[in-house]
Amino acid sequence: MVYIIFIVIVIILLIIYNYANYKVPDSLKNIHSITFFSMLISQLMKREGGNAKIYSRCKEYFERDGIIKLYFRGKWICMITDLAVAKELCLRNDVFPKLMLDEILPNSAAERHFGVNVVHSNGDVWKRHRRVCNPAFKTLPIHLFVEKALKLMDILEKVDNKPIEVRDFMQRLTLDILGKVAFNFDFNNLEDPKNPYVTAYNEVQDVFRNPLISFLQLDRIPIINKLVFRKIDKLNNLFENIIKEKRKSLAAGHSNGDLLELMLKACEDPDNQMLSDTELRCNLAIFMVAGHDTTAMALSSLLYLLAIHKDVQEKAREEVLRLLGDNLTPSSEQHAALKYLNMVIRENLRLYPPAGGLTLRVLTEDLKLKNFLIPAGTPVSLFIYGIQHSPKLWENPEEFLPERFENEHENYSWLAFGSGSRMCLGNNFSLIEQRIVLCLLLRKYEISLPQNSIHKNELKFKNAMNPYPIDLIFKRRSE
Ligand code: HEM
Repeated sequence: MVYIIFIVIVIILLIIYNYANYKVPDSLKNIHSITFFSMLISQLMKREGGNAKIYSRCKEYFERDGIIKLYFRGKWICMITDLAVAKELCLRNDVFPKLMLDEILPNSAAERHFGVNVVHSNGDVWKRHRRVCNPAFKTLPIHLFVEKALKLMDILEKVDNKPIEVRDFMQRLTLDILGKVAFNFDFNNLEDPKNPYVTAYNEVQDVFRNPLISFLQLDRIPIINKLVFRKIDKLNNLFENIIKEKRKSLAAGHSNGDLLELMLKACEDPDNQMLSDTELRCNLAIFMVAGHDTTAMALSSLLYLLAIHKDVQEKAREEVLRLLGDNLTPSSEQHAALKYLNMVIRENLRLYPPAGGLTLRVLTEDLKLKNFLIPAGTPVSLFIYGIQHSPKLWENPEEFLPERFENEHENYSWLAFGSGSRMCLGNNFSLIEQRIVLCLLLRKYEISLPQNSIHKNELKFKNAMNPYPIDLIFKRRSE
């Protein structure tokens, strides 16, 4: 009881603390707001929400003004859907540099875990990180993707024709693939989701997903900060040990082509400046969050869409069987040849972009947008979801129509992986992963939605990255 009273008091104090800082700057007053309390309620109550909810609540303003503002950790942030600004933001890193973690989340769990890395850096520091990371993403070890995807098939083999919660399975699969491809580490999440490595990783992800921490800044309280940092340090140590071991195995002449190995080799190139072990560790940490949940989300929503659009499922399967013949997974050339499957993947990423917005930028100059003048120093982001659902840019934007990608679309209207020099470094990684998994599943199973599914009419989300559990039935096909 005392414990509950303590928590309630802490939450009330945090709400007061956050509300006390909640003053709208005059310059942003005319921009439509999502209020502090409505953000608070949707974060804390975990009621139906996500990007679709933000968009539908503010659609009128996004369509009319191309901008709204919302309150996050003591700052007012502008979310933009105006296409001309989208283009500028993607092309002009000098005017729209990234907002660094020590500015938006000082002394937080995120800053301690991710530090400065290829996603959170600017200018020459970013170039140094990117030069070391780039070669690693050019030659991806596809056999490692296949190895893990086949493990998923072994597991599915045992559950024919019964509902399976795909979000959980996809998260376990994508973690295993990332661990293997990024640093040859077997999280073994598909077979043993309770093992200590998976637990250490999930404990840290739960910290980032916890709205009391991310939204109300509970981690500012010293005792909680200490507890959270202990979890972060455990995972940081795991990554640091992986780097040390990798150095040793490279020195002993072993090689398996994972990303970390290629990054260490790139550090030896006299044309590149080295990354320290801490910088390498921060990059591994950011690859994990950038590449794990995003691809898991993409695969989950796509399997759902295939389950409710049997015609698309059949057409995609027909293409896979026709092109791959007896091959279970596509060869490097076949990845590009899977034209229809690629359109299906793109359309899913349009409807359900796993990254609903870009990482935050901070304006270095005043920005004029229609009648608004947003002053330098304001944090801004592009609301990808809003752009990809705009009826001005897409015909019947709420419909799943892969065929729309047979035609050109307006530049910057599809931004699932961002654009410009800060575009996703792992887009190919994710697309290869998605195609391999889809080819295996489509060949072997017919996918459908159980009659009593809560997602019968639409995919229902708790928050941006979290739909309610998605049970799907995988029925073995007779070939
Ligand atoms: C469906 C899956 C994915 C989606 C939707 C996605 C989305 C994005 C987006 C929108 C950006 C641009 C961020 C910005 O400009 O603010 C980005 C950047 C990035 N992504 Fe991804 N991503 C995915 C998978 C991956 C994977 C698998 C990895 C690595 C293993 C990865 C690594 C990165 C990195 C390192 C950057 C930063 C690039 C830079 O700033 O130079 N992503 N991603």
